[in-house]
Amino acid sequence: MINQFIEKIPKAELHIHIEGTLEPELMLILAERNQVKLTFDSVEAVRQAYQFDGLQSFLDLYYLGSQVLLKEQDFYDLTWAYLEKAAEQNIRHTEIFFDLQTHTERGISFEVVSSGIIQALREGQKKLGISSRLILCFLRHLSPESAMEILKQAIPYRDQIIAIGLDSSEKDHPPSKFQEVFQVARNLGFLTVAHAGEEGPPEYIWQAINLLKVNRIDHGVRCLEDRELVQYLKEKQIPLTVCPLSNVKLKVFPSLKQHNLKKLLDLGLCVTINSDDPAYFGGYLQENFIETQSALNLNLQEIYQLAKNSFLASFLDHQEKQDRIQELDQFMEQFREKS
Ligand code: ADE
Ligand code: ZN
Repeated sequence: MINQFIEKIPKAELHIHIEGTLEPELMLILAERNQVKLTFDSVEAVRQAYQFDGLQSFLDLYYLGSQVLLKEQDFYDLTWAYLEKAAEQNIRHTEIFFDLQTHTERGISFEVVSSGIIQALREGQKKLGISSRLILCFLRHLSPESAMEILKQAIPYRDQIIAIGLDSSEKDHPPSKFQEVFQVARNLGFLTVAHAGEEGPPEYIWQAINLLKVNRIDHGVRCLEDRELVQYLKEKQIPLTVCPLSNVKLKVFPSLKQHNLKKLLDLGLCVTINSDDPAYFGGYLQENFIETQSALNLNLQEIYQLAKNSFLASFLDHQEKQDRIQELDQFMEQFREKS
């Protein structure tokens, strides 16, 4: 019963890397279409490689997989495949990260990457009724100068890109490295988010808040190591985009039963559930909800709260948020009448 409830409840996804939705089947199709040589010759061989001992071992494979993406059509196909999956799972709104430097470093233009993704997002709104926003992430293992260069290229896309994010290898790459480029981004009118406290210490979450002035923290699960930080996140209701299956796959927690998501919710933080890189971590948003509910014994009210938080924490405008939450509340009423 609760699984059906999870499947049907309207929800938003706020932490999804479009390159992380590349399923092995599409990876192999694109490798052949674009004549890119991969070391894998079957879907099973690709899946076999998905054993990670931490963030870096995943990123190595993830950047390798992204090399099959060359043309605008490839970015369109990738994004469209995700949107179809999202529609099946009653995802009503999605905010998608894309990593431009992964592609520009291979000689693929900003234009090719963005146009393919943006075109699919438009179709997603028209044909599937899924609203969306786009977030450009800087790779933190690269230099702030490289990030600034990408930011300049993003200026003509100001209307299509809502926010700037920060991802890739967290250890030894503190948010402080990107203070200036984030300041320029904010002055240009971009909102900001950053991965922090996934593998890195609570200090990186403080830096993301105080130096990058982020609107949300991506992951943030290590905040529990700092009581003052938890208090601050609660008071300001700074949203955390938590990714439970990702955290287990990347050994942030030994198992879902040991995940701190329920504790974060109980403490009154604005927590959301997300899939991060679903093709690599064994589940899309619905599977993240279902497996987390089962491991932590979440009740209907908690599932509702997580779905409501996903809209509240989104970058939809005020009226759109109200409309989505009204739709959610109507769903709840109908569900209660039936059961
Ligand atoms: N890029 C894609 N997934 C990521 C993650 N979980 N952490 C940091 N960078 C990423
Ligand atoms: Zn992520």
